[in-house]
Amino acid sequence: MAVFEDGPWEVTSCTNGSSALEVMRDRGVDILLTDKNLPDVNGLELMAEAKRINPLAEAILITAYASLESAISALELDAFDYVLKPLNNVFEIRKKIERAADKQRIAEENVALMKDLELRNSELQVTLMETKRLQAGLIQSEKLAGIGTLAAGIAHEISSPLFGVLGLAEAIGEEDDLSTIREYGEEIVTYAKSIREIVLGLSNYSRVSKREYFSNVSLLKCVNSAVQLIGRGEASQGVEINIDIPESASCNAQPNELQQIFVNLIRNGCEAALDAYPDGGAVVAVHCEESESGTLIKVVDNGVGVPPENHRSVFDPFFTTKEPGKGTGLGLNIVYRLLTKFGATVSLDSVPGLTTFSVVFPRDKE
Ligand SMILES: Nc1ncnc2c1ncn2[C@@H]1O[C@H](COP(=O)(O)OP(=O)(O)OP(=O)(O)O)[C@@H](O)[C@H]1O
Ligand SMILES: [Mg+2]
Repeated sequence: MAVFEDGPWEVTSCTNGSSALEVMRDRGVDILLTDKNLPDVNGLELMAEAKRINPLAEAILITAYASLESAISALELDAFDYVLKPLNNVFEIRKKIERAADKQRIAEENVALMKDLELRNSELQVTLMETKRLQAGLIQSEKLAGIGTLAAGIAHEISSPLFGVLGLAEAIGEEDDLSTIREYGEEIVTYAKSIREIVLGLSNYSRVSKREYFSNVSLLKCVNSAVQLIGRGEASQGVEINIDIPESASCNAQPNELQQIFVNLIRNGCEAALDAYPDGGAVVAVHCEESESGTLIKVVDNGVGVPPENHRSVFDPFFTTKEPGKGTGLGLNIVYRLLTKFGATVSLDSVPGLTTFSVVFPRDKE
C-alpha cells in the first residue's frame, strides 16, 4: 500500500468488508478499491454504501477474470473501473485511482457549477418578477396619465362654450331689449348644444369618428362663429381680426370639432399678438386658399413667434409657455388630434413678428 500513500489523499486499508463499512461511515469515502468477493460483506454492497455516504464516490472493483464480461459487469455495477488479480502492477492501480480522483473532481466542479447556476437562475427569477411588477405598475400609471389627459382635454374643450354661456347669461341680466335677449338666448342654446356634443362624443373618444358624422361645413361660417366665441372672453380684446375666406370654401368635418380647431388657433394667435402689442397693433388674420390638392387655411399673427426649439413640442399635450394657471397646453394637441381625425394636417412657420399655422384639408378623393 506504500505506493498509494504519497498521493494527495489519505488511505485506509481494511482486511474485511465490515471494517471497511465502519471506516466509510465513520470518516467518509471518496474512492473505494474493493474486491468483488469479500469473505463477509459483498463488494457490491460496499459500493452501494459508499455511494449512499458520498454520491460522488468512485469505486474500482478488483476481479479475478480478465474477460470482457467481467469488465462489462463491473461497469454495470456502477464501478468506475476494474483491476485484475493478482495485484502485481501497483502503478497501473495508482493510475486508475488518479483517473477516478480526476473524474470525481470534475463531478464536484459540475455540482458546484450547477448550484451556482441554480442560484443565478433563482436570482433571475426574482429580477424577472420584480420587472413584471414594475411593468404592471408602469402600465397602470400610463393608463392613469391617459385618463388625466382625457379629462383635462374635455375640460379644455368645454371651457370655451361654457365661457360663452356664462357671458351671455350675465349680459341678459343687464339687457332690456327683448330682441337682443332673444338673440343671446339663441346663442346660449348653440353653445349648450356644443357642450352636449362634446360630452356625447366622449363615448367615441378613442375611436376615429365615422365619416357618416362628417358634413360639408362652411369655413367662413365656422371661423366667424369661432371668432364670436373668442370675443366672449378677454383673449381677443384689442386685437384686429381679419378674415378672408371665400363663401364657397368648405370642408368635410364634424362642425363642432372644426370650430374648436379655429377657436384654439385664433385664440393662441390673439394671445401671442397681444403679448407683443399690448397697447394696440395686435393683428390676427385667417386666409383661405383653394387649390387642386385641397383647401389651405392659414391663421397668421404678428406676435412674438415660436422659437425653433419649440416647433415640435407645441403640439404635445401639456406643453405650454404660459404662466402656471394661465394655459393648460392642450389647445394645439386638441387641434392636432381632431385634424388627424379629419385626414387633415397642420404645420407651423414662425419668425418673430410672423407666425403661421397652416391647416390643409386634402381634396376628397371619392
Ligand atoms: N400663435 C402662437 N404664437 C406663439 N406661440 C404659440 C402660438 N400658438 C401656440 N404657441 C405656443 O405653443 C404653446 C402651446 O399652445 P397650446 O394652445 O397647446 O397651449 P396654451 O395656449 O399654452 O394653453 P391653453 O390652450 O390651454 O390656453 C403655447 O404655450 C405657446 O408657447
Ligand atoms: Mg392655446
